[in-house]
Amino acid sequence: MKLLSVNGLRNLVASIGQADFYRAVLTTLEGDFLRWGEFIKTPRLATHYPFGVIELMPCADQHYYSFKYVNGHPKNTEQGKLCVVALGVLADVNSGYPLLFSEMTLLTAIRTAAVTALAARCLARPDSRHLALIGTGAQAEFQVSMVAQVLNLERVTYFDLDPRAMGKFTRNIRSFDLELRPCQSIQEAVQDADMIITATAAKQVNDLIQLDWLKSGVHIHAMGGDCPGKTELGKDLLMASKIVVEYRQQSLLEGEVQNMDGSVLYAELWQLLAGHLPGRENDSELTLCDAVGFALEDFSIIKLLHDYSKQEAYRDYFDEIAMLPTMADPKDLYGFFVDVGA
Ligand SMILES: NC(=O)c1ccc[n+]([C@@H]2O[C@H](COP(=O)([O-])OP(=O)(O)OC[C@H]3O[C@@H](n4cnc5c(N)ncnc54)[C@H](O)[C@@H]3O)[C@@H](O)[C@H]2O)c1
Repeated sequence: MKLLSVNGLRNLVASIGQADFYRAVLTTLEGDFLRWGEFIKTPRLATHYPFGVIELMPCADQHYYSFKYVNGHPKNTEQGKLCVVALGVLADVNSGYPLLFSEMTLLTAIRTAAVTALAARCLARPDSRHLALIGTGAQAEFQVSMVAQVLNLERVTYFDLDPRAMGKFTRNIRSFDLELRPCQSIQEAVQDADMIITATAAKQVNDLIQLDWLKSGVHIHAMGGDCPGKTELGKDLLMASKIVVEYRQQSLLEGEVQNMDGSVLYAELWQLLAGHLPGRENDSELTLCDAVGFALEDFSIIKLLHDYSKQEAYRDYFDEIAMLPTMADPKDLYGFFVDVGA
């Protein structure tokens, strides 16, 4: 079985080139959304604690099976730990043998941002130039990088309760060709924005954005609320929006739309990508992608990494995890110990 460590991933992405890697992730994810019907899908299995959540996220097609272990602990950063940490496995369904064991913390940030970009392509006004970001933590720069792949961004306004997170974001994003404006409040940040991303971490029901702060025709991508009792937007805003989700069954449990009737949902994202339903239909509608993170997105990115591991140019970025050797008699598992005199 192959192993992709964080250092392996960093070196692999440097070798491919960050922009090219992001484009590959976007293309692969879109391709996988387009074969939606081929996947065996299920909402994730979540174990809740008052301070966070631990989740297992499985997804499979007729060739590969994947799962991700991931957490969400909003208070972790106070102790110098990440809010979201993840590991993933890809397996061959014919034998059931695992093929790749991968770090997924960075890959989660990248695939989450790819979802934002695909949704923005369908739902934001194509002439959107001004992005507002609420919450400038670990996910923030990935979000801007990916959205910049699909919209001609010129300006980013942003707000976070934590001034150090704002400073970190400013430093990291400075090299982008963008006008940056740190703001003193959410209201200031979203004023005149064409697109808004909410990426806050708080285990509570929030109401971050008021309807009358918004310019007509704005697209909102809400990705920070992703658990029962952890939301970012109020009911007025939801009721005024055309709402798109990744996977209906899971979003009605975990998304901004949790506890609402399924009739509030306009579509699943794949339906827009496949052209089954129109995305944005005019310049004035308020669109909302209520993104919680779906296992197909993890499948897509870990399978992409597996494809890289088979290419000569990238093979060395992956390590090997020793598995049991091929045995003369596969029923003689005990013999593995006997041979070394255990
Ligand atoms: N939808 C998905 O697929 C997906 C994927 C990854 C993470 N997430 C979620 O996204 C959120 C952000 O993740 P992260 O890794 O960046 O977390 P993080 O802790 O690194 O950053 C979150 C930031 O939000 C800020 N914040 C909290 N409440 C705020 C408020 N009211 N106004 C402004 N800023 C506020 C915090 O100060 C912090 O800087 C988490 O809730 C996480 O669970 C969702």
